[in-house]
Amino acid sequence: MPKFDHHIFVCTHVRPEDSRRSCCSARNSELVLERFKELLARRKPRGVVRANKSGCLNQCGLGATVVIYPAGVWYGGVTPEDVPEILERHIEKGEIVERLRIPDEILNTPRSLDAP
Ligand code: FES
Repeated sequence: MPKFDHHIFVCTHVRPEDSRRSCCSARNSELVLERFKELLARRKPRGVVRANKSGCLNQCGLGATVVIYPAGVWYGGVTPEDVPEILERHIEKGEIVERLRIPDEILNTPRSLDAP
């Protein structure tokens, strides 16, 4: 099987309601993943593209969190309504959707980790 041209990981981690940390599932990440899968099946993009669920990506304060490899581009606050734009611009045109991108300087900081 050829390697993936784009591999999309969507955090669907669930935390208890009384957790001090937030989680992507509380921000509809399962619906984000469903939308990616639905549109990928329908659009048949060029190349090999796959969307998978992932556990916590440690950017919980910025969810719903999506990361696309091999580019290593992180998106935060992603909603199901954002998915067509990510597919159209990032996957099809090779553009970064800047309005959703998590800047490198925020990744893995207390803000992104949602540390108490
Ligand atoms: S719960 Fe989604 S990044 Fe941690």
